[in-house]
Amino acid sequence: MDIMPLELVQKFAEAYGPTTAAVHTFFSPGRVNLIGEHIDYNGGYVFPAALTLGIHAAVRVRTDKVIRVRSVNAEGEVSFAIDKDLKYNAADGWANYPKGVIAALAAAGHKLVGADVLYWGNLPDGAGLSSSAAIEVLTGYWALTLSKTQTVDRVALAQLCQKVENQFVGVNCGIMDQFAVAVGKRDHAILLDCATLKYELVPSAMPGYNLIILNTNKRRELADSKYNERRAECDKALELLKKAYPTTPMANLCAATMAQIEATITDPILSKRAKHVVTENQRVVKAVEVLKAGDLIGFGQLLNASHQSLCDDYEVTGDHLNAIVAAAQAQPGCLGARMTGAGFGGCGLAVVSVAETDAFIANVGRAYTAKTGLIAGFYISQVGDGARAQS
Ligand code: GLA
Repeated sequence: MDIMPLELVQKFAEAYGPTTAAVHTFFSPGRVNLIGEHIDYNGGYVFPAALTLGIHAAVRVRTDKVIRVRSVNAEGEVSFAIDKDLKYNAADGWANYPKGVIAALAAAGHKLVGADVLYWGNLPDGAGLSSSAAIEVLTGYWALTLSKTQTVDRVALAQLCQKVENQFVGVNCGIMDQFAVAVGKRDHAILLDCATLKYELVPSAMPGYNLIILNTNKRRELADSKYNERRAECDKALELLKKAYPTTPMANLCAATMAQIEATITDPILSKRAKHVVTENQRVVKAVEVLKAGDLIGFGQLLNASHQSLCDDYEVTGDHLNAIVAAAQAQPGCLGARMTGAGFGGCGLAVVSVAETDAFIANVGRAYTAKTGLIAGFYISQVGDGARAQS
């Protein structure tokens, strides 16, 4: 469902009462990661793209230092003062994301205005398409834009929002999601080197093919604790490698070779985690190379290999993602499919010929329901721009 700025302003009036003051509208997309999963916090390459689905905000500036937030997608209102010591509060639910961003911007010395804000998203709920990064970057974007004292530095905003997620919300995520939704560009995926934040925009069009997002509708349960656990395992593997190779210090796990991992890491779990990281990083480089060369068959094969590695070595797929990806891979016209995002539920993606798309959706939907009892969702993904003002 598309959300138009005018409808958003109408919803704003329903939420806060009719107003003659200016109501500004903003948008931030969600993201899909084409390949390079669980790589960002290991200092390697990822290849995400911003979507045209995302979260909108309607914002009216206030004369005091209070921020009130509401959402069309949830009940209730949360309000807080910019100049108070703002803390995470479980009872505030989703509103902790905007609150955390405002707290971080204020702590960084930005002079912010008070505001009444209505959020409205059309990203499927709990699907791992980065609604949290979208609302964080959206909040930072409207807050900086309306405070008028500064232009928005998109990379700095992504870094600030990652810090909010790590320190305010408590999820130890990498930079990929916030970076993709802040920096995204229409019809381009972002090849991002997470060690340096250098990036290249690569055309994402696949002539004759659709990139289809496969929503398992299985919520990402336990995702945060399992996510932090994987991250800790990678840190442990890196520590062992650093000890074993003190004269060639490794800045991150992606810098290790398979030979070094095999020679050093005896714990079978840590060894599998490290193997995924090193091979996935290589797949990203190869995937960008083949995509640029127009070799979509090669690209699809790398997606399949990525899923296998995330299933066997990184163990973050689970029954629902495995079922939907297997059903997708079995269809004619599907060049490749994999899970995308953190895993443990959420979404997959597939590259499917335009001519076979309708049959693909019908067949995968049927096979997935037969296997899991759940109804899958399908979105033909369009790659859009990063966070922006609309009016
Ligand atoms: C989540 C995190 C990202 C990244 C992915 C896995 O989306 O927020 O930083 O680690 O999982 O690739």
